Amino acid sequence: MKILILNGPNLNLLGQREPEIYGTTSLDDLNRRLAQYGESLNQARAEHARVELYFYQSNHEGVLIDMIQKAPDTYAGILYNPAAHSHYSIALRDAVAAIPTPVVEVHYSDIAVREGFRRVSLMEDVTVAQFKGKGVVSYEEGLAYLINYIDEH
Ligand code: DQA
Repeated sequence: MKILILNGPNLNLLGQREPEIYGTTSLDDLNRRLAQYGESLNQARAEHARVELYFYQSNHEGVLIDMIQKAPDTYAGILYNPAAHSHYSIALRDAVAAIPTPVVEVHYSDIAVREGFRRVSLMEDVTVAQFKGKGVVSYEEGLAYLINYIDEH
């Protein structure tokens, strides 16, 4: 199964941006960790059910909308950190709602305990789950959940 790991605006700066909040792991390191995690999950999976991860990041709302609209042609699921778009982009929320592909929302930080404007995620009720506040582990837990969800549906 092909899974898209999608990261929104400013996540290309992971590891440099506000390290006290987002840590020192770069996006490349995060993606390598997820690739390793995917491989470890594959040890216990049948050949035809192998997980293949594809990575994409963009700072541009329209590019992300295009990516999400096209995702069902290729991917069985999306692990998505919409970053700041979570809090204000009705267009990205609508894109997620428009596709049948399951989307799991992830956040490095715990958006529920930060500034008031981060506490609402417009994605929350159009995604199948949300994992937050654990850095790379949020992504790993989100990926495990997504794979399990796809397996069961
Ligand atoms: C973030 C949280 C968002 O509020 C913020 O705008 C980000 C990153 C996170 O991963 O913690 O850019 O999605």
